[in-house]
Amino acid sequence: MRAGGGGGREAALLLLLLIATACGFVVLLLNLPDGHSRRPGAGGERKGGPRLSVKKERRMEEVVRLHDVAQELEGQTEENAPEADERISRSPPSTKKKIWMMQDQLIMAKAYLQLASPHGHTRLVQELKLRMKEIERMINHASGSSHVPGSALQKMRAMDMTLSKAQRTFPRCSLMTAKLRAMTHHSEELVRAHRSESSFLEQVAVRTLPKGHHCLAMRLTSEYFMLDSKEHEFPKNMTQIGGFYHYAIFSDNVLASAVVVNSTISASKDPKRIMFHIVTDALNFPAMMMWFLANPPSPATIQIKSLDHLKWLPADFNSRFRQKGIRDPRYTSALNHLRFYLPEVFPSLNKLLLLDHDVVVQRDLSELWEIDMKGKVNGAVETCTSGDGYHRLENLVNFSDPSILNKFDANTCICAFGMNIFDLKEWRRRGLTATYDKWFKVGRRRRLWRAGSLPLGQLVFYNQTVPLDHRWHVLGLGHDRSIGREEIERAAVIHYNGKLKPWLEISIPRYRDYWNSFLNYDNPYLQQCNIHR
Ligand SMILES: *[C@@H]1O[C@H](CO)[C@@H](O)[C@H](O)[C@H]1NC(C)=O
Ligand SMILES: *[C@@H]1O[C@H](CO)[C@@H](O)[C@H](O)[C@H]1NC(C)=O
Ligand SMILES: *[C@@H]1O[C@H](CO)[C@@H](O)[C@H](O)[C@H]1NC(C)=O
Ligand SMILES: *[C@@H]1O[C@H](CO)[C@@H](O)[C@H](O)[C@H]1NC(C)=O
Repeated sequence: MRAGGGGGREAALLLLLLIATACGFVVLLLNLPDGHSRRPGAGGERKGGPRLSVKKERRMEEVVRLHDVAQELEGQTEENAPEADERISRSPPSTKKKIWMMQDQLIMAKAYLQLASPHGHTRLVQELKLRMKEIERMINHASGSSHVPGSALQKMRAMDMTLSKAQRTFPRCSLMTAKLRAMTHHSEELVRAHRSESSFLEQVAVRTLPKGHHCLAMRLTSEYFMLDSKEHEFPKNMTQIGGFYHYAIFSDNVLASAVVVNSTISASKDPKRIMFHIVTDALNFPAMMMWFLANPPSPATIQIKSLDHLKWLPADFNSRFRQKGIRDPRYTSALNHLRFYLPEVFPSLNKLLLLDHDVVVQRDLSELWEIDMKGKVNGAVETCTSGDGYHRLENLVNFSDPSILNKFDANTCICAFGMNIFDLKEWRRRGLTATYDKWFKVGRRRRLWRAGSLPLGQLVFYNQTVPLDHRWHVLGLGHDRSIGREEIERAAVIHYNGKLKPWLEISIPRYRDYWNSFLNYDNPYLQQCNIHR
């Protein structure tokens, strides 16, 4: 792990590459006659999956080239970065904001430059290069000084005009770009904000996936855009109507989801009755689709949705969980809060098992649909043991506040999330989504609990939880090094909650193989991206 700005630059570079590759392919596809002559994909292993035409395959080489360029860029910018960042961090807020805007402009310009270069848009290329130099100079001037000179604002305006010119030249990708642009600034800002914190490195490791995962997301995304739109759908099994066991996974991580899906099927006695529902965000949707198109979880059925397909969600849903001073995506991610809208996400379902993406399923779970829920909504294991005062409600929410004190028992045991069976009929009957909205608003007005969905979950499902046997769900594999082998191996579901996720280098070695064994490391995508055990 590199120190300093590495994480930010990496995140920015991934986005830059996604812009360049995604837009690049849209452009290239417009220029190419759509090749219908097909031959097996490079990997050769994708039985029944979509295949690439020869021409499209050649485009893959372009992706690899772009990736190499990016790594070079990364190497170059690394050296001077720490001092520059140091100077920027001493600037007043208004200066910082301008500098970040200029940095975003640079990212966009780089993306367009990569798009334009191989296609002979010489004038545009020259103009972009000139503007980039100007902006770089302005960033240098502005960092550390108390205000941004008027000349910088002029240069920013000039850059804006050049960028719109570029956007007009590549109109098909402007939508994609706008989306990615918004995200770029946000992710950069997150990393900058963290710089001063002592736990910075650990936070970066938590948030920033290793290089191989970046490569994987990029490859899958660009391949998805190369498919014909009729290949964008999963085959439907028309012979089966109803009678499914429904599993939901909300995740932005392809490999994590792959392991949950694969382990669930491997452990199931009757996998053809399983239907997976994955919900991801707009940025990761193409990669997630592509992975499961190429590695279909047959004989189970799968559906993948993006947050922006859920039109009924509150307009501010994607941003409402960002809180000042809290940057860990485990707390601020919208996907993490989507669990409070289950009946709305799945209007036609009455019972559903929700799995976090950091679990491995080791036993058949169909019995969970048979347990007596006693009219309650949420089936979950409790995390307190007798005499343990720590996992009690009073340690999650502020009992000095009368609105809490009068309604709840401080001694209530905390229930776990990560593997929960939900009775959505009861949920709807009791209007728990409204209960959630109410507590969410209260929590926004007054700070009655720490960030994240866990405290809210305790209040929403208070009196509505039926405790499950502990063997259903063993927690702690992402932070607790002392869990016994026997306890792990007899568990139906093991959960890597905590920072030390099994797909990160910082994971706990003793627990890694339970996760690794459900990933086929010979898979051509993993091989091409150097992802190994
Ligand atoms: C479709 O469902 C039928 C009936 O359950 C099953 O026998 C068959 O294997 C399924 N086909 C696929 C491709 O999963
Ligand atoms: C807990 O709530 C009380 C009453 O609303 C408030 O005065 C106090 O500052 C809160 N404590 C924390 C740690 O937020
Ligand atoms: C929980 O159940 C108890 C006993 O039925 C009831 O008195 C209490 O009001 C309930 N609390 C909430 C918050 O629903
Ligand atoms: C799923 O897991 C099994 C081991 O249980 C493994 O052999 C297989 O390759 C995995 N499939 C994928 C697509 O990774």
